Amino acid sequence: MPIYNYGSINIDHVYRVPHLVLPGETLSSHHYRQVLGGKGANQSIALARAGSEVFHIGRYNVADQALVQPLIEAGVAAEHLETVNEPSGHAIIQVDDQAENSIILYAGANHSFTVTDLANSLQAAKAGDWLLLQNECSCTQAMIELAAARGLKIAFNPAPMNAAVKDLPLDKLSFLFVTQVEVCQLLNLPTEPLPTLEDLVALLQARWPDTLVVITLGSKGAASVYQGQLEFVPAVPVQAVDTTGAGGTFTGYFLHAWMQGQSLRAALERAGKASALCVQRVGASSSIPTAAEVDAFKQ
Ligand code: RIB
Repeated sequence: MPIYNYGSINIDHVYRVPHLVLPGETLSSHHYRQVLGGKGANQSIALARAGSEVFHIGRYNVADQALVQPLIEAGVAAEHLETVNEPSGHAIIQVDDQAENSIILYAGANHSFTVTDLANSLQAAKAGDWLLLQNECSCTQAMIELAAARGLKIAFNPAPMNAAVKDLPLDKLSFLFVTQVEVCQLLNLPTEPLPTLEDLVALLQARWPDTLVVITLGSKGAASVYQGQLEFVPAVPVQAVDTTGAGGTFTGYFLHAWMQGQSLRAALERAGKASALCVQRVGASSSIPTAAEVDAFKQ
């Protein structure tokens, strides 16, 4: 089943630092690397490495052709990759010695899409195909509405979260991928203390009765809530060196497993293993494991 991923493509400038820089501080980094990133591109690579047929709808600057090579090499279909004159999206990423990160984004070409562009990009999509989106590109609301009107199933990861997300037509989603904090923001719940997963089940059932909600819990694991049923899978314990890209890895591997007919528990377990491999490597797209690596991973 094809999946269209309307997703960001970023140049990630990754700096290893002893600690995340403080206000007013000038800090020397001890390592620098430039890699392909963007939550959208990371998700597409994870989907393709997991085994899905993925069409990435994305844009980058005409001078950055080499940027998208990892997408092509992973097997992502290039029909909807376009070059534009705007600068490519980019991210300034600090990763400290405890694997904490902080990210500054510049949207650039990711925000160059118009509603007409997006309607054109879905022309070959058929009812029952999937659309995946995150929140780093322009015209997200229009894309959800266009896809819903064509009968596509829609999966959305509202990261990075902002105030506009609450006004999106979230009732049209089949899947929603969120962190525990993001789900609180969407449901207007306090985050101190965070509600338990059990508390969230009834609230999610009432708010989005037909949407499968996947809640990622970082080093604790991940859960799914669907039609009042909670499934929780603990994380595989590993020593993380860089968590950048772990969310995209999880989303791609989860979606692929689910589309292959695996149970929710099996899909959560598969995605958890893939993310555990990802966080043990540095970088975003460069740290996403292949299906063979996930198969071989022993806990
Ligand atoms: O989730 C990690 C990603 O967020 C990075 O690759 C960066 O580009 C930002 O989009």
